[in-house]
Amino acid sequence: MKILVTGFTGKVGLQVANYLNAKDIPIVCAVRNVEKAKAKFGDEYEYVNLDFSDSSTFDNALENVDRIFLMYPPGENLLFDTFLEKAKDKGIKHITYLSLKDVQFMPFIHHYKMEKLIKSSKIPYTFVRAGYFMQNLNDFLRKEIQERQRIFVPAGKGKTSFVDTRDLAEVSALSLIDEVKHRNQIYVITGNKALDFFEVANIMTEIIGVKIEYTNPSVKEFNNYMSEIGVEEGFVNVVVGVHMPTKLGLAKGIKHDYEKVTGKKPTNIGQYIMDFKENWI
Ligand SMILES: NC(=O)c1ccc[n+]([C@@H]2O[C@H](COP(=O)([O-])OP(=O)(O)OC[C@H]3O[C@@H](n4cnc5c(N)ncnc54)[C@H](OP(=O)(O)O)[C@@H]3O)[C@@H](O)[C@H]2O)c1
Repeated sequence: MKILVTGFTGKVGLQVANYLNAKDIPIVCAVRNVEKAKAKFGDEYEYVNLDFSDSSTFDNALENVDRIFLMYPPGENLLFDTFLEKAKDKGIKHITYLSLKDVQFMPFIHHYKMEKLIKSSKIPYTFVRAGYFMQNLNDFLRKEIQERQRIFVPAGKGKTSFVDTRDLAEVSALSLIDEVKHRNQIYVITGNKALDFFEVANIMTEIIGVKIEYTNPSVKEFNNYMSEIGVEEGFVNVVVGVHMPTKLGLAKGIKHDYEKVTGKKPTNIGQYIMDFKENWI
């Protein structure tokens, strides 16, 4: 068994790699820049060059692996149809795909099309449909929390089903290790409780010991501020789009598939904030 881990430098892929590494499962980490990855993550991992927009990288990345943790990165001209054809030709036995909760109601988004594409490739799969990442607080929300002590995102008063990417990684890794058990399964992975951003700000305040506020900006206020500080418009639109279901009250569903797969309770947001609290101070 050898697993290709895509999105290795990202919020989920790195956790998948760490989980598999800790279990001594052979992996190869797919990155766009091997030298950069080596400099940042060291020689503990084996790397291979893979860029989903460059099909000349596909053959080599698929050499000597039989399973794939597959994620869909940001960017244009991604050649997943070619990638999956090659994966099929190379005899890949299983793909675990990082998808999105409620994707079945969103035929216009790439995850919907990707799930269809994977199914039609006839490669056995597990779809890990993820709730809203807790790690976003440490990613695109971090700067405003750290510098202005505010969660600045246009999510209204809606609740969302926060999930720790470490839990997503665990389910993904388990499905790759025991692929027969998890063949053609769809898991919706969320935490145990949906929260709004006012509640998250209160929990952060309590744990970090610094007053954090959720300022609940309108989409217009958010766009204006982001443009003022020079954030690229395409990215701003993605962030607005990601939070729209929350704003509309459509993101609060909770599922218990994490517990079904692992036998454990999912990580709660208090634990997550505790684990990373120095990142926001
Ligand atoms: N954020 C959420 O709340 C949420 C919720 C549900 C689902 N999701 C889904 O999760 C996925 C993102 O996962 P993530 O947050 O772990 O990733 P991430 O932290 O955004 O990192 C993106 C990863 O993609 C890689 N990448 C970028 N362009 C690439 C390309 N052309 N070819 C190959 N790799 C490329 C990057 O590698 P480099 O180092 O080369 O840049 C990096 O490893 C998305 O599909 C998103 O829709 C997100």
